[in-house]
Amino acid sequence: MALLNILCYPDPRLHKVAKPVTEFDEKLRALVADMLETMYESQGVGLAATQIDVHQRLVVMDTSEERNQPVVLINPEITWASEERIKGEEGCLSVPGIYDGVERAVSVKVKAADEHGQVRELEAEGLMAVCVQHELDHLMGKVFVEYLSPLKRNRIKTKMLKAQKDSA
Ligand code: NI
Repeated sequence: MALLNILCYPDPRLHKVAKPVTEFDEKLRALVADMLETMYESQGVGLAATQIDVHQRLVVMDTSEERNQPVVLINPEITWASEERIKGEEGCLSVPGIYDGVERAVSVKVKAADEHGQVRELEAEGLMAVCVQHELDHLMGKVFVEYLSPLKRNRIKTKMLKAQKDSA
């Protein structure tokens, strides 16, 4: 297993649209294992393949308190979203240190395959529902800061670029 490098906003590769996974093979399962390891190591609740510069529809998550309930979503599609929406604080491993409010559906149903190609439908609410919506956005090339005002987004962009320059 290996830790993977996570792209940082405003890296343009974060805006690529992911393609469906077609091969459910050992290579895919190795990638899933590496993504889970990277997510746990970074203390994140979710990681989309886009964030590690792999442009395939693949997401790993774990929103459990104990950090022992990994969820793998391959070729995920939201099949239902509640009309009820709520604004909550979000962060992202690709935008370290930034947290801001984003409005999302309170609960969603998502249909996705696991790493063996087994398709199932999951119902998510609370943090898990937020995470599903946030991670699926990544697969469409969307980062959560794009929900914020242009003014806030530009401030974040400047801050990120400065931090990347300082650590280079
Ligand atoms: Ni994110």
